[in-house]
Amino acid sequence: MENNKRPESMARITDEALAKKFIDEQIALVKKQVGGKKVLLALSGGVDSSVVAALLVKAIGKDLVCVHVNHGLLRKGEPEQVVDVFRNQMNANLVYVDAIERFLTKLEGVADPEKKRKIIGAEFIRVFEEEARKQEGIEFLAQGTIYPDIIESDGVKAHHNVGGLPDDLKFELVEPLKFLYKDEVRVVGKALGLPDGMVYRQPFPGPGLGVRCLGAITRDRLEIVRESDAILREEFAANGLEGKVWQYFTAVPDFRSVGVKNGKRTFAYPVILRAVNTKDAMTATVEDVPFALLQHITARITTEVDGVNRVLYDLTPKPCGTIEWE
Ligand code: XMP
Repeated sequence: MENNKRPESMARITDEALAKKFIDEQIALVKKQVGGKKVLLALSGGVDSSVVAALLVKAIGKDLVCVHVNHGLLRKGEPEQVVDVFRNQMNANLVYVDAIERFLTKLEGVADPEKKRKIIGAEFIRVFEEEARKQEGIEFLAQGTIYPDIIESDGVKAHHNVGGLPDDLKFELVEPLKFLYKDEVRVVGKALGLPDGMVYRQPFPGPGLGVRCLGAITRDRLEIVRESDAILREEFAANGLEGKVWQYFTAVPDFRSVGVKNGKRTFAYPVILRAVNTKDAMTATVEDVPFALLQHITARITTEVDGVNRVLYDLTPKPCGTIEWE
C-alpha cells in the first residue's frame, strides 16, 4: 500500500524545531481533510492517543470529540490526569465514561487470559460505539497509529484501532502520526506541551492491569495491583530508574500464602515485581535493581497495601518468561 509507506524525503524528527514544523504541516493537512466536520478519538491517555489528541485540539479545537473510557484497569492517577490535561488545561471536548462496573461485572469469574483480553476489547468497542452514537455529525475517526504498527503488523495493531465498530460507524480515518517512530512521537508530544509523565510513559498493555491481576479479576486484588504499581513507580522515579528501565510493574496471583503480622497469622496475597529492558519486546533482560531498593519497596508494599504479606522479584528473562504474566 503506497500511502502506508513513510516518504523517503521525510527527515527524522529529533528536536523541537523539526517537531514544530511537523505539527504545522499536520495541522494544515488535518484541516484540509476534515474541513470543519467533527472527529471522534478514543483517548486512552497512552503516548500515541494523547499526542494525536493534543495535535488535533490545536488543529480543530472543539470539533475533536475525545472519548476516555475508564474501564477500571488503568493505573493509579491516570484517568484523573487525562481529565486534567485535556479538559482543564487544553480545553478539549472530552467525554469521560466511567465504565468500571460494567467491565468488572463482565470479567467476573473469567480466568483465561485470552478470554479476558477478548472481553476487555469487545466491551471497549461497545462502550465506544454507544458514545459515538450519542454524538451528532461525526464524520471522521482519529487514531494513534504509528509507523511500527504499520510495518510490524501490515496494518493497524488492535490496540490502536476501534476496528470492531459496526459498518454505519466506519468513519474516514485521521492518522497524523502514521509515519512516525515512537521516539519522534515523544518529541512531537513534548513540543505540543504534554507533560513528561505522559510523553515518556513506559509501554502499557491495552487490557491494562487486567493482565496483571492474574486469573479471574477480583476487586480486592485489582486494588492491590494498582496500589503496589503506584509504589513501584514512585520508588523507581525517586531512585533514578524512571526513563532508564524499559518496563516495570507489579502482578498479583490468585492464591494466598501464610504470613505473620503483629504476632498474628495472616493469609494474604503475594505481589510480584517485574522490571525489564528490551529494544523490541521480543526478548528482554531483567533489570539489576539494587537489593536495598528491592527491600525498601518490599517494606513499603507490605505495610502500605492491605491484603499483602509477601513481595517477590521476577528474575526471568524473555525467553523463557514473557514480559507480562498473562
Ligand atoms: P509479552 O508479555 O508478550 O509483552 O512479552 C510484550 C510487550 O507487549 C505488551 N503487551 C500487550 N500490549 N495488548 C497490548 O497492547 C496486550 O494484550 C498485550 N500483552 C502484552 C507488554 O506489556 C510488553 O510491552
